[in-house]
Amino acid sequence: MVTIQYGPAAVGLPTSVMTAQSRRADVDRFHGSPYRWGQDQFAQVAQRAVDWPDTMPDHKVSVRGEHAVPYRLTVLGTGYLGATHAACMAELGFEVLGLDVDERKIEQLQRGELPIHEPGLEDVLRRNLESGRLRFTTSYEEAARFGDVHFICVGTPQKKGEYAADVSYLDAVVESLAPHLDRECLVVGKSTVPVGTAERLAEKLVRLAPGGIEVELAWNPEFLREGFAVQDTLHPDRIVLGVTSERAEKVLRDVYAPLGEVPVVVTDFPTAELVKSAANAFLATKISFINAMAEVCETAHADVKQLSLALSFDERIGGRYLNPGLGFGGGCLPKDIRAFMARAGELGADQALTFLREVDAINMRRRARMVDLARGLVGGSFVNRTVGVLGAAFKPNSDDIRDSPALDVAVTIGRQGGKVTIYDPVALDNARKAHPDLGYAGTALEAARGADVVLLLTEWQEFVDLDPEELGAVVASRNIVDGRNALDAEIWRCAGWHYRALGRP
Ligand SMILES: NC(=O)c1ccc[n+]([C@@H]2O[C@H](COP(=O)([O-])OP(=O)(O)OC[C@H]3O[C@@H](n4cnc5c(N)ncnc54)[C@H](O)[C@@H]3O)[C@@H](O)[C@H]2O)c1
Repeated sequence: MVTIQYGPAAVGLPTSVMTAQSRRADVDRFHGSPYRWGQDQFAQVAQRAVDWPDTMPDHKVSVRGEHAVPYRLTVLGTGYLGATHAACMAELGFEVLGLDVDERKIEQLQRGELPIHEPGLEDVLRRNLESGRLRFTTSYEEAARFGDVHFICVGTPQKKGEYAADVSYLDAVVESLAPHLDRECLVVGKSTVPVGTAERLAEKLVRLAPGGIEVELAWNPEFLREGFAVQDTLHPDRIVLGVTSERAEKVLRDVYAPLGEVPVVVTDFPTAELVKSAANAFLATKISFINAMAEVCETAHADVKQLSLALSFDERIGGRYLNPGLGFGGGCLPKDIRAFMARAGELGADQALTFLREVDAINMRRRARMVDLARGLVGGSFVNRTVGVLGAAFKPNSDDIRDSPALDVAVTIGRQGGKVTIYDPVALDNARKAHPDLGYAGTALEAARGADVVLLLTEWQEFVDLDPEELGAVVASRNIVDGRNALDAEIWRCAGWHYRALGRP
């Protein structure tokens, strides 16, 4: 069953958006709702309903059984996705308990320090810690006692030596949480998973939880972008709910009701899981498409930037994700398209996704091409050559270096004998930890000092704003490779730089 709704009804049944005046009537209407609790829980929530109305904005109050109570949420796994989700759900007015197995991360978050760089998130975190709505723990027992809705946000990295996703962290969450779930609650998977995972985990959850079928699973894939995580969480372009009951759908509609008008797609588990895989496959394909055009432009002496601009005016194509350059990386797209291929293979649908192999290959070839261009500019070998690298994060406005094209290029050049010095506005610590053998600098000018070639590998605005004269004054030779097609070639060439870029003459 798939239903799509737009408008106010899309984000909450009318009864879930309540005002103080309407509360009594709504409660009456909900008499006989399938969502009912035992007497102990009634007593608890009734107390909460009495304690909370003045502190909770009315529209964030939901209905359970015969009582109006706010759901209490937990977020299990507080990395890039979980820390954002926890803070933003508290921002919407919910009481939220974040949990992670990493004690240091939990201590940091509880102090109001963000272990990651995400614009605007630290303010949201601090504001909600101060309000008392947001707390953190490492105790699954406490999380189970506290929460009505448990969001799972743990990682699903690529397995070592394989394309498949490692879903063992999800199994670990279910195994740690379920034995403490002795009352009605909803567990909601947000991690990106191979299709079929939710059905397996739902069965495991019911089997391990003392609450049995009162404990239900839903799948609610996440589409936030690092660098825009707060904005994307508070203003999502759509919400996908994979559910197996009206009860689960209603709970999630209630939870997301404060977001306002958002299209909601209600569907089954496999479709919800596949929506995320398909979205990532599409975006990766679009990026690799323009980078394949860049390869052709390189041999035909054409300019892929102009080609991309011309394509972007075609409304059927559009300009987003059509920027030629060093390609995609990070903790999602590369591992997700590989996991998608691996899962399709297991299901016997591998032919449908063989094109993703080429998407992946085109993407990786851009990194090799970048190294080749740089090597060409320094005389054919990196030995005894100094290379200034601008950027380590996989994209600007993030400190995430997972599968970062920038770092990959820097590491390859280091291995080929180049003396590499990297600068990144926020990802230096992560990069240094992962690659202590490379050189690091505290500013772009320091990274470029004495360089035979400068490489722009992550399009941070401060690199786009660099003054070619100022940078030219510190380098050994005015050679630059613009890996992101972010600079104005004319300006740099006029300032005496030998400017090269991917896909351009
Ligand atoms: N990062 C993104 O932009 C993004 C966007 C959409 C979807 N996703 C998906 O969300 C999931 C999480 O991604 P992420 O980038 O936040 O990963 P992450 O590595 O930053 O965070 C995962 C967190 O889970 C914790 N963890 C591991 N095992 C645990 C356990 N048993 N119990 C509790 N916590 C545990 C880790 O300590 C870590 O803090 C992945 O499936 C990813 O594909 C990520």
